[in-house]
Amino acid sequence: MSEIKIVLPDIKDYHILEVYRSHGGYENAKKAFSMSSDDVIDIVKKSGLRGRGGAAFATGLKWSFMPKTTDKPKYLCINGDESEPGSFKDRQIFEFNPHQMIEGILITCYAIGVKTAYIYIRGEYYKWIKLVQKALQDAYDAGLVGEKMKETYGTDFACEIYVHSGAGAYICGEESSLMNSIEGKRGYPRVKPPFPAQNGLWGCPTTINNVETLTNVPAIIKNGWEWFAGIGAPKHPGTILFGVSGHVNKPGVYELPSGTLLTDIIYKYAGGVPGDKKIKAVIPGGSSMPPLRGDKLEGVTMDADGLRAAGSSIGTGGIIVMDEDTDLVAVLLRITKFYHHESCGQCTPCREGTGWMEKILKRMNKGEASKADIDLLYRVATNIEGNTICALGEAAAWPVRFTLERFRDEFEKAMKDEVEMPVKNQVHSMRHTKIPIAPIHH
Ligand SMILES: Cc1cc2nc3c(=O)[nH]c(=O)nc-3n(C[C@H](O)[C@H](O)[C@H](O)COP(=O)(O)O)c2cc1C
Ligand code: SF4
Repeated sequence: MSEIKIVLPDIKDYHILEVYRSHGGYENAKKAFSMSSDDVIDIVKKSGLRGRGGAAFATGLKWSFMPKTTDKPKYLCINGDESEPGSFKDRQIFEFNPHQMIEGILITCYAIGVKTAYIYIRGEYYKWIKLVQKALQDAYDAGLVGEKMKETYGTDFACEIYVHSGAGAYICGEESSLMNSIEGKRGYPRVKPPFPAQNGLWGCPTTINNVETLTNVPAIIKNGWEWFAGIGAPKHPGTILFGVSGHVNKPGVYELPSGTLLTDIIYKYAGGVPGDKKIKAVIPGGSSMPPLRGDKLEGVTMDADGLRAAGSSIGTGGIIVMDEDTDLVAVLLRITKFYHHESCGQCTPCREGTGWMEKILKRMNKGEASKADIDLLYRVATNIEGNTICALGEAAAWPVRFTLERFRDEFEKAMKDEVEMPVKNQVHSMRHTKIPIAPIHH
């Protein structure tokens, strides 16, 4: 078992500024400020760092989209909305390593020429908002952030960092919605293009990165890109925070090299399944990612390519394990109810489709649906995908589509077809259920 830890090192009291500094903390920012901003971007590009917020987009490449010359201010948003069911890893950074995140923000701001950064934290993380505010205040008081940093680091560069709290909407984790939320508007996703690097916060060039992504940056500056590129899966290097929940003996957040076997995470690190039961399904990257069958986990590696090959996606690295006794109809209903509730309502396929899917799944869950409803549910899901402004559409559709494709047998077993209505009585396929229809008296 590899013990490499980059974003959550096993150092006692690392969240305290003095302890962080005694291990070389904030020296990496100083080192970065002595380089050109282009060199910093180049190092991050070569390191192969990819975003930990869901899409695994190349971080250095994203930074290079920011215009070098502009008469507008530029902004950085740090995405700590973390509202995807099954994801709970950024809050570990807020609690146990906030200064490395702050240092990562300083280096990023320097690299892309930003003077104002916003750390966006989900509103329910009240405790963690306070912890980050305290860490930030300590850094300000020590002259490590803000105007005083010019003197501290002996540089011309200075930037301000603010904490912005969300108000309980999952959709505000989507980057354009997050920017609207910071602007004080309703959390509606924006149509892209234009992309944030051209037209972001208040119409100005903006970069949005996940908390974990940026917490890696000081370590890359300290140890060099070759070091980082050599850890884990070559095309998706570094460590990843895997949040493991569901039917495991030791749920928790495990920092492991990318490319670690999914079965190792479940059995070696998370202690296996209670009662040594078999696994029916695993969602590997937060609730919106396609579930994998329990009998198809052998050899699956936890990195972008490994999961693509297995038919899913790395997402946020939130692994949800479901044992052989799990009722997948009930699970899918719960997941769908969440996305229906969280749909912002701007686009018809998402607003209506998520509601229809929830209705059908409710019927299925009550044993009031017929086998034809399986196809109906599948059709609704596949009509949402690709037809919406933001990826919440896919987030809602994928679990439904892939659960039906991979566990159709379960659904067929659960649906009773002997009480189907005769075709002549079917008004609409949505009513193709076993709900008793009162006889019509003439
Ligand atoms: C519905 C929805 C919710 C999202 N929620 C989050 C979130 O909570 N945290 C996050 O970092 N990214 C979230 N994302 C992805 C962001 O839009 C964005 O891609 C990410 O913050 C970029 O950071 P990265 O490049 O460092 O991964 C969400 C995307 C969608 C479509
Ligand atoms: S896909 Fe859903 S959440 Fe995203 S903009 Fe459309 S309605 Fe809103």
